[in-house]
Amino acid sequence: MTLTSFPAGGSSNPPSTAHPITKVTVPALTEMKRQGKPISALTAYDYSSSRLADEAGIDLLLVGDSLAMVVLGHENTLAVTVDEMLHHTRAVRRAVRRALVVADMPFGSYHGPVAQGLANAIRFVKEAGAEAVKIEGARIDLVRALTEAEIPVIGHLGLTPQSVHRMGGYRVQARTAETVLQIKADAHALADAGAGAIVLEGVPREVAADITAELQIPTIGIGAGPDCDGQILVFHDLLNLTFTPPAKFVRRYGDAGTLIRTAIEHYREDVEHRAFPSDEESYHLPEAAHSALNEIEANRTVSGHDFSRAAKAAN
Ligand code: KIV
Repeated sequence: MTLTSFPAGGSSNPPSTAHPITKVTVPALTEMKRQGKPISALTAYDYSSSRLADEAGIDLLLVGDSLAMVVLGHENTLAVTVDEMLHHTRAVRRAVRRALVVADMPFGSYHGPVAQGLANAIRFVKEAGAEAVKIEGARIDLVRALTEAEIPVIGHLGLTPQSVHRMGGYRVQARTAETVLQIKADAHALADAGAGAIVLEGVPREVAADITAELQIPTIGIGAGPDCDGQILVFHDLLNLTFTPPAKFVRRYGDAGTLIRTAIEHYREDVEHRAFPSDEESYHLPEAAHSALNEIEANRTVSGHDFSRAAKAAN
C-alpha cells in the first residue's frame, strides 16, 4: 500500500474533546458487574477490525489464541506461539483507545514452572501493551504470582480449548454433580488468587448462573447462557467468516463472508472485462508536462534523433 490513505489510530490519535473516552480497565469491569451493566467482549486479531470493534463500543477485546484457527488456519489452538500472539497483540493495541486489551497466553507459554508463565506474561505487557492476560484452567499459583507482579489476569474455565486432547474433543463441560462442584471450587479459587474476571466457556447455563451469582468478579460467557456478567464471541463467528457450521451458541450478526466473496468476484470480473480501472480512477499527466514532452519530441525530430516517439511513429 503506497498511495492509499490509512491514518494511524490508536494511541497516536489524540482523543476528541467532544467525546472524551473513558478507558476500560479491569477494576472497571468489576464496577460494571456491581452496577448490573453487561460487559461486551469480542476477540480481535488485527488493526482494522479491532479499530472498528473499539469504535463500536466493545468493552473488552481479547487477542484470543483462536487466532491459530481463524486467522492462521491451524486445526486447533495449540500451534500458535508467543511471538505470533505478541505480533497480533501489538496490532490490536495500536488500534484501540477505549476497550480493555487482553492477550491470551498460548499453549505451552505457562504450562511449566510459574516463573516461565510470569516471564511470558511480562512480555505481553512490556512488548505488546496488553492490559491483562488470559490463562486457561485453575492455575492458582500462577494467577497469584501474576497478580503480585501487577499483571491483571482473566481466568478461563469449562471448555478450555488448549485441553482439547485431554477432553477428547470440544465438549460441553460441568455436566455431572462432581464436575459442577469442581468448576465452582476452581472459580472461587481463581477469584481468591486475584483474577479480575473469568471466562466461562461451554458450560450449562445453570452452572454459569450460579458461579456468576456467587462471585464478586465478573464472568464472561461463551456458550454459557445469558446469565453471565458479559458475553464474548469470536469475531469470525459473529460475522460468518468461518468455513464450518457454527456452534449452537453462535449468533451471526452479519455475513461478511458473502460480502467479501461477492465484492472480490465483482473485482475479478471487472479486471477481466477491462472495466476497472476507469479513466476517473487513473492518474493523469499534468498539462505542463504534456507540453514539455511534446516540445522535447519535436526538437529531437528536428535534430534527427531516430529514437524519438515521433520518429518511431513515423517508421
Ligand atoms: O481464544 C479465544 O478466542 C478465546 C475465547 C473463545 C474466549 O479464548
